[in-house]
Amino acid sequence: MIILGIETSCDDTSCAVMKDDKILSSIVSTQLKHQEFGGVIPEIASREHQKFIITIINQALTEAKVSLSEVDAIGVTYGPGLVGPLLVGLNTAKSLAFSNNIPVVAVNHIEAHIMANFIEHPKIELPALILVVSGGHTELIYTKDFTHYELIGKTRDDAAGECIDKVAKMMGLGFPGGRVIDQLARQGDENFHQFPIGMKDSLDFSFSGLKTAVKVFLAQHQEDFLKENINNIAASFQKSVVDALVLKLFKATKKHRVKSILLAGGVSANSRLRNTTKVKSEKYGFNFFYPSLGYCTDNGAMVASCANYKIKKYGIESFSFEKSLGLDAVPNLRLSE
Ligand code: KG4
Ligand code: ZN
Repeated sequence: MIILGIETSCDDTSCAVMKDDKILSSIVSTQLKHQEFGGVIPEIASREHQKFIITIINQALTEAKVSLSEVDAIGVTYGPGLVGPLLVGLNTAKSLAFSNNIPVVAVNHIEAHIMANFIEHPKIELPALILVVSGGHTELIYTKDFTHYELIGKTRDDAAGECIDKVAKMMGLGFPGGRVIDQLARQGDENFHQFPIGMKDSLDFSFSGLKTAVKVFLAQHQEDFLKENINNIAASFQKSVVDALVLKLFKATKKHRVKSILLAGGVSANSRLRNTTKVKSEKYGFNFFYPSLGYCTDNGAMVASCANYKIKKYGIESFSFEKSLGLDAVPNLRLSE
C-alpha cells in the first residue's frame, strides 16, 4: 500500500510517501514570506502553495523512488485550516486522483497530528488522553477508539502556540517563535519571574492573561535589563505555558481512566513539555507517546499516516476519486465525536 500525503492547511507546503506503514519521504517547505508580517497572511499562503505544491510532490515521489502510477491512495487535508491554502492541496489531490484513477482519503488536520504518533508507535494502548497543541489549537481529547474523540477541554482564547508566537514577537524573536523560545529557555532560569497560569481549576485553558502579563512585564523594564535577561524571561514564560498544559492533562487523568498519554501538534516539539509529561507519565504509570520533531509541526507524513489508518479500518474500496469530487475545504472542521 503506497500512500501520498498532502498537507497545505496553513503555511507549510508538505508532502510525504508512505509504503506499508513506513515513511519513505517527507518534504516540508515552510513559507518564509510571512515572517516580515509576524503572522500568516492567507492570500500569500495560498499563492505560495500554488507555486510550490507540484515541485514538493515531485520531490517526495523522487526521494521515495515511487512513481505516481504506483500510488494506491492520496491522503489530503480538507480542514480545519485556512480556506485558500486548503483548496490548493485539495484541488491538486483531486486532479492527480482524477487523471490517475487513485482513491482519495479526506483527512482532518487535527486527527493527522494525532496520528503522527502512529508513524513510530504503531501500537498505542487505549483508552488515551491526547493533548493537541499547535498554533491554532489547544485541545484535550479522550478516546477509546481512534477516529472517535471526546473533547474534554479547550482553550477559551488563544491557542498555546498562538500565545507563544505572540510573546516571541513582543520579545523581538521573529515568527513563528516556538523553537527560539524553547532554545533560549534552556539557558535561562525558569524561576526568574512567576507568570500566571489561567483557569487553574478547569480542564479548559486560557492564555490571554499570560500574554498580557508578559506584555506588562516587558513594558515595565528597561531595554538593557530585558536584553540581559532574555533567556530568563523565555524560560519563565515557557514554564507558565507548559505548567498550564501539564496541570490540565494530569487533572484529566483523574476523571478519565486511561492507559496512554499522547502529545500532538507543533507545540509538542517543545522540550520542556515533552520532558515534564514524560516524568509525570512514568510516575503515574501511563504509556507516553509523542511524535519525532519532524512530525510535530505540519507535515505530509502525518496525513499519510492518518489515511493509512482509515484505509486499514474501512478498507480501500470505501474510497475512490469519484467520491472525492464533491469534497470541499472545511475551515472549521471539528474532530468526529
Ligand atoms: O502544528 P503546527 O505546525 O501548525 C498548526 O497547526 O497550528 O504548529 C505550529 C506552532 C507554532 O505556534 C510554533 O511556534 C509552535 O508550533 N512550535 C513550538 C516549538 N516548535 C514549534 N512551540 C514551542 N516549542 C517548540 N519547540
Ligand atoms: Zn497543524
